[in-house]
Amino acid sequence: MCGIVGYIGQREAAPILMDGLDKLSYRGYDSAGIAVIDGTNKINVRKAKGKLENLVNLLETSPITGCVGIGHTRWATHGEPSDINAHPHTDVKGGIAVVHNGIIENHESLRNFLTAEGAVFISQTDTEVIAHLLNHLYKGNMKQALLRAISMLEGSYALGVVCDEEPGVLYCARNDSPLVIGEKDGECFAASDIPALLSHTRDVIFLKDKEIARLDKSGISVYDAYGTPCQHPLFHVDWDISSAEKGGYAHYMLKEIHEQPEALQKTYAPRRSQNPGDYAWLPISPEDARNLRKISIVACGTAYHAGIVGKYAIERLARLPVEAEIASEYRYRDPIIGENELFIAVSQSGETADTLAALREAKRRGARVMAVCNVVGSTIAREVGDANTLYTYAGPEIAVASTKAYMTQAEVMLLLAIALGDMRGTLPRERVDALLEELVTLPKKAEEVLKTEEHLQRFASTASQKKHVFFVGRGLDYALSMEAALKLKEVSYIFSEAYAAGELKHGPIALLQPGRLVVATITQPSLLDKTLSNLREVTARGARVVAICRESLQDKVRDSVEEIIAIPDADDLFAPLLAVIPLQLFAYCMAVARGCDVDKPRNLAKSVTVE
Ligand code: AGP
Repeated sequence: MCGIVGYIGQREAAPILMDGLDKLSYRGYDSAGIAVIDGTNKINVRKAKGKLENLVNLLETSPITGCVGIGHTRWATHGEPSDINAHPHTDVKGGIAVVHNGIIENHESLRNFLTAEGAVFISQTDTEVIAHLLNHLYKGNMKQALLRAISMLEGSYALGVVCDEEPGVLYCARNDSPLVIGEKDGECFAASDIPALLSHTRDVIFLKDKEIARLDKSGISVYDAYGTPCQHPLFHVDWDISSAEKGGYAHYMLKEIHEQPEALQKTYAPRRSQNPGDYAWLPISPEDARNLRKISIVACGTAYHAGIVGKYAIERLARLPVEAEIASEYRYRDPIIGENELFIAVSQSGETADTLAALREAKRRGARVMAVCNVVGSTIAREVGDANTLYTYAGPEIAVASTKAYMTQAEVMLLLAIALGDMRGTLPRERVDALLEELVTLPKKAEEVLKTEEHLQRFASTASQKKHVFFVGRGLDYALSMEAALKLKEVSYIFSEAYAAGELKHGPIALLQPGRLVVATITQPSLLDKTLSNLREVTARGARVVAICRESLQDKVRDSVEEIIAIPDADDLFAPLLAVIPLQLFAYCMAVARGCDVDKPRNLAKSVTVE
């Protein structure tokens, strides 16, 4: 979703802003722009629809100079992608420029009010009201004007503001939309995500909701909504910029698929213990675990699919009812959640607006809350607190299509299921030990599975022109199929759907005809016979079936499918984690074969910070 950058220092701002925008481009965008204050204290704005290259070209023909500026990549919410709707937006005189992430919900009433006061709007965006509002409120002190403005704005925002009457200052504000700031050697930086700051500083501050910041050559000052100064600890970023770069791979998505063995290992390592029954990493006591009556796992997209893995696993091992639900539904359906129930938000970014709102709703209703999250210091992690956050250690995930984050989220779900099963006494100790033992071997097996890439490349070259693909499976394999279908549609734009294999004949089978492609996942021996009889119904209709299948089940499957992609044997609980790798590679290879922009699929954003 939109990206913000800001700079104040001694160097030319434009190249720094453009570099920051480039680092944020993975978030998805449809236009970009920058505003820089020049030596005469005039704000110059350049914006262009489309890729950042268009803005680069514009800046070549029409350069802007100065040491203070803001920049933005826009992902349209109000108004089509266009030069005019791109940020920064200015007031009528062009003396105040604003970049904004989020949605101003009361923009219409503010627009009417400001129009009556003489403002002339030129864009269709909600953001433009902020520039006019600041102009209306400005009485010689931008800090005061910004504080007044945020008391009038409803909705979500991360803001960067520059003003020609305070040419050496950059202002920022946030509410429900992430904003990170940092300083080093007389320079200050702001951005909506850490990668944009990393080449300048590793020590950053996360602004909190309703706070504003004033950045100038002497440093950073943060104020709460009443204008009272606040102190924030510096957060030291310990991952390297190289982990957010492609490192020789053609795409981030491929690199991140290949990072999964390491991500699995890093996520388990801090939770591995020599002492049986030691779950110090889990903020739930054995007594609380025994008293639990229900768990709600709430998330969006891929994270939701990891939640479904959690549902199957926890119900199976800990004999505890689990609801896995989409956050945008949960937040508005008047959910029932009460005593002895646990709410778990799952989110890679920790910034997804719907997941955050669902979490707040659950908290408001008095639920005990936890999070599974990849980004340290993100809003969800902070709202739940580090002690209640089960971090995934996937490292920065840049590709819009989530892969390694899903893998580690699913791994944490399985760990949680084992721990709860052990603490509740529903899982015999020998089984707990065997599972935890096997978890150690998973990264090695995942490395083996990565070798299927060549096979999938060949397969994709024969299948990439398919218009529809169905993914089928039963139990955990169905949960996996949902993720496979999402991955394929995201990156290749092929219409893909997941069905529980047993559900096919209740409707979807009507869509099967000669030439249709069905991808079956087969990792659960107890469901094998049932799945095979479903697949025979599929092949009888002339559809082409390819199976992702556990090595030990291959012989039984061979006669019912056209092609098999085998994965190493593993426990029923872990085999689906291995099976997801060929499914991710399948989506990737199909997208590459179709010439799609794999890392930045159309219309998608990495972090969906608006509703
Ligand atoms: C995954 O490939 C998607 N791009 C998307 O579904 C994503 O998983 C979803 O938006 C949730 O994001 P989060 O994990 O950052 O909350």
